[in-house]
Amino acid sequence: MRWEDVLATRNTRMKASEIRELLKLLDQPDIISFAGGIPDPALFPVAAFQSAMAGALGPGRAETALQYSVSEGYMPLRRWLAAHMAGLGIPCGVDNILITSGSQQALDYLGKLMISPGDTVLVNWPTYMGALGAFNAYEPTYDRLDPRENRGAAEYRAKAAEAGGAVKFAYLSTDFANPTGETVDRPGRERVLDLMDAIGGAVVEDAAYQALRYDGEAIPPILALEIARKGSIEDCRTIYCGSFSKTLAPGLRVGWVCAASPVIGRLVLMKQAADLHSSTLNQMAVAEVAENIFDAHVAGVRAVYKARRDHMLAALSRHMPKGVEWTRPEGGMFVWITLPEGMDGADLLARSLETERVAFVPGRAFFADGSGANTIRLSFSRADEAAIDEGIARLGRLIAAG
Ligand SMILES: Cc1ncc(COP(=O)(O)O)c(C=O)c1O
Repeated sequence: MRWEDVLATRNTRMKASEIRELLKLLDQPDIISFAGGIPDPALFPVAAFQSAMAGALGPGRAETALQYSVSEGYMPLRRWLAAHMAGLGIPCGVDNILITSGSQQALDYLGKLMISPGDTVLVNWPTYMGALGAFNAYEPTYDRLDPRENRGAAEYRAKAAEAGGAVKFAYLSTDFANPTGETVDRPGRERVLDLMDAIGGAVVEDAAYQALRYDGEAIPPILALEIARKGSIEDCRTIYCGSFSKTLAPGLRVGWVCAASPVIGRLVLMKQAADLHSSTLNQMAVAEVAENIFDAHVAGVRAVYKARRDHMLAALSRHMPKGVEWTRPEGGMFVWITLPEGMDGADLLARSLETERVAFVPGRAFFADGSGANTIRLSFSRADEAAIDEGIARLGRLIAAG
């Protein structure tokens, strides 16, 4: 069988990551890893989930937990989320909420919903590589969204037309972005809204890390700013993607979309066609755990990650040679390093794994245009303080050696 003969064109855009082979080495015990941007499993609320799962499988509830269910999601969870969103300045009803299998599924559905081959998506340089992966299947062109210095709508539109389509949406992570850890300030958020109002496209607001703020003032989500302008979520172009992965547990695959009800209606059709609905049992468990302990649990998670972030920033100050720059995130899991000009992050990783045994993610894969060779992403979410000190010292030594 020649599989190339039967593959759709979209497959040419779906490539295995070049760094995956290197990252396979991470399981070796002597490696200090700042690579995976995943939660520390020691922070999972295991007892709360044990009790919630047992309850969901108990008398009178197991029939619901194990049965097919509606595509929109488990109603008590949608109700909790509507109240949660109101707390973020986004008054909405359950008709504005769709439960998805992680926010990653929302990104896939939004690509499917809006991108025809050749259409343009605006993204930051760099951006979440999983979003590029999700959108790539729908064969878009990317143009650069820089919240600090937007080009005018006409310019974006003309470039999109040249590429054979239209600007369909801007995608951005507003708080503590993956990979940079940076937060878009309020004027930056307003400018994205202005731009997309002028272009006539949607805004996809990825809020995966929103709850993990360690210091500084919370900034209203773009969707909240837009509701303040327009009066109702029903008149908004912003589509908010949330997730329980970074706060409760990623393995349950529970996320949500909050948007105007016609958008939710379209996404429900997509979910029906793709997987019918997300796991009912998992949604029931998440609803109960969120109801009972969300705020207290997330406060505990924040305290642990904040200490690790502080530790990593202090270690970077002590050990990084001149010419290295890094971000100072107010939350999330990542610090983004810019290496001296001409130094390549992928080469550095290969050398680091061989000699210093420290792992991280080279930055290039986060750039839609393949630039960013002299950048790397470090995650502080899983390493303890001793490992952070030792790992950053070794990395500083390696970089200093050139
Ligand atoms: C910015 C961002 N968005 C979305 C996701 C997807 O998360 P999930 O599908 O677990 O909600 C991730 C995961 O790392 C992420 O970093």
